[in-house]
Parts: sequence; structure tokens; C-alpha cells
Amino acid sequence: MIDIRIEKTTAPKAKPDSSTLGFGKIFTDHMFIMDYSADKGWYDARIVPFENISLHPASTVLHYGSEIFEGLKAYRRKDGKVQLFRPIENIRRMNNSAERLCLPQIPEEDAMKILETFVSVEQDWTPSAEGTSLYLRPFMFGNDETLGVHAVHNAKFVIIASPVGSYYKEGINPVKIMIESEDVRAVRGGTGYAKCGGNYAASNRAGEKAEKQGYSQVLWLDGVERKYIEEVGAMNVMFKIGDEIVTPMLSGSILPGITRKSCIEVLKGEGYTVSERLLSIDELGEALHNGTLKEAWGCGTAAVVSPIGELLYKGEKFVINNGEIGEVTQSLYDTLTGIQWGKIEDTFGWTYEIK
Ligand code: PLP
Ligand code: COI
Repeated sequence: MIDIRIEKTTAPKAKPDSSTLGFGKIFTDHMFIMDYSADKGWYDARIVPFENISLHPASTVLHYGSEIFEGLKAYRRKDGKVQLFRPIENIRRMNNSAERLCLPQIPEEDAMKILETFVSVEQDWTPSAEGTSLYLRPFMFGNDETLGVHAVHNAKFVIIASPVGSYYKEGINPVKIMIESEDVRAVRGGTGYAKCGGNYAASNRAGEKAEKQGYSQVLWLDGVERKYIEEVGAMNVMFKIGDEIVTPMLSGSILPGITRKSCIEVLKGEGYTVSERLLSIDELGEALHNGTLKEAWGCGTAAVVSPIGELLYKGEKFVINNGEIGEVTQSLYDTLTGIQWGKIEDTFGWTYEIK
């Protein structure tokens, strides 16, 4: 089992006012960091005061984008205890992302110990105001100090933490999303299913275009036919069409979201028909026109469950459910956040208490 050295800060910062938190702007007192070399494996696991990372100018990540990350949250329960939500799923997905980018694996039990130890050191930073949490951002990058393009032989794994409020300025109110018809985010065989920085870099141009027109994010179409709905910039999507709940299947080009998986399990448990399948823009357009599209929402760790009130496609605006949050969206939000913040019983066994 991994050994973690802990060096506490001598200058702890003041905690922010938890009613004014945005997303990812404030960082806690410490960070976790460890190094990897092909010869030694992972070494020097340490929790140290939060500080800048110094890199060789030829470091792989700066040139060839060898970077993966994760996102999960620590939640403050009413009884004061702090808990994580399905952390093992993030660890497994991180190792899958690492495999895709030729970055090193971290054994699951070591990754779990690292997360638990780090959150335990930083747990006082978990805010308690309604809807707030401590966002954890594990990330790994290639750090060979040479310009040759090859699999990584040196890497760093880091975790930073940020007390956060809601991701969208709209909070739980419906967001407006633009369907992108030119740029694509990922293709099958590419890195779409991996949580790697490059996917997000490729998304920025369309994201900017959406923002300029007053839309929060982009809904991507598949990269081959530009016909099938994929996912939004920072969340998976679900639609209620008639009595069926439809979410794009995991085709290899979208992120297998942990919130997505949890929503599917909750909805199926409540007796809904949930289909993971191809959903074309034509089918969605028809459902919008004939009134069978009842609700649309996105789901993700940062975004939680976020109703979609309007879609823009090739200049045409489609308002969904009068721009209001729908019944299923609201109930899903209540159940999921209820479990995450420990307000309702976790019958799924998804939560993990920090001692
Ligand atoms: N899709 C993308 C592109 C994301 O960045 C995220 C956020 O992590 C998600 C989906 C949702 O994944 P999860 O529910 O695991 O946070
Ligand atoms: C998350 O929800 O954890 C994400 O990684 C989304 C992010 C791009 C802000």
C-alpha cells in the first residue's frame, strides 16, 4: 500500500463565504502530488502546501497534450460528516483514460487511499451552504523532458480541490444550449471516451461561438455523419420523448459520465423506460415539432442535473417545456442531490464517508 507524506501549511488561508462561491476559482491549502518514472513506478507521494508546479520547457504536456483529468465532489452532510459519491468510478475511468493516452495506471487501492487521505486533510474546506461542495480535480500529465513524440516515461499525478457553488450562473434554472453543426468534438477511435484535456481544447471554438450568442454550452453531434446527438461540453444529455427517456449510447466518442450512469439507475429503479441508443438530430427535431419532446436535461458532476430550456440549431430556436424545469428533471435532481448530500437514504451504496 502506498505511503503518503504529509507536510501541512504554516499559513492556512481564510475560508471563503460559502454563499458566494462560483466554480473553480478558489483553491484549498494543500495539494496531493506524486511522480512517476518508467524505472521507479510511482514515487514520492506527498500532500504539500498548494503551490505552483515548475516544469521543464520541453515537458511532454506542454507540447503534445498528454493530460487526463477527473472531477468528483466531497459533500457536507447535515450531520457535519463529509462524503464522496462513487469515487471508485472516477478512479476506474481515470485508468481507462490513462490507457488511451499511454499514461501510467494507478492501482485502484492506492488511488482510493490517496483520495481519502487528501480529502481527510482538506475536509474543513467542504462548504455547507445549500448546493455547495468541495470539487476535487485529480489530473495526470506526461513530463518527459525531451521533444521526441513517444509514449510517456515520466509523469506527475496531482489532486487539487476547490470549494464550489453551481457550475452555471443559472443554478437549477434551465440553460440554453447551442447544437454545433460545423466543429466536432471527437470521433470513434479517437479520445472522446477519455477525459483528456485535448477534447476540451478542441471544444473551445464552438463554445465561444455559443457564448457570444447567449448560449451556455454546445451540444455536439457525432463526428462522422454530424447527425447523431452526442453530449454537451461538460455534461451528458437525456431527453424525455413521449414516455421514453433517451440518452445517447456510449459509442466511444462520448464520456461515460458517472452522473449519467447514476441517473439511468435511478430512473430504471423508478420504472421509467430508459433507452441508450442513437438519437438523430432529425428525430429530435421531429419530437420538438410534434410536441412529444417533453423534457431535456444535462447531467454531470459539476453541472449536477441541469434542465435545458432552449436549443438552437442552425439559427432556429426550440423552446422545451416552456423554458421551465420538467417533472422528471426535478425529481432526478432531488433524488441525486438527496443521496449526494446525505439528505435521503443511499439505497444504492454509492456514498463513501470520510473518517
Ligand atoms: N461529458 C463531458 C464532456 C464532461 O466533461 C463531463 C463532466 O465530467 C460529463 C460528460 C459528465 O461526467 P460525470 O457525470 O462523470 O461528471
Ligand atoms: C465535471 O463535471 O467534473 C467536469 O469535469 C466538467 C468540467 C469540464 C468542468
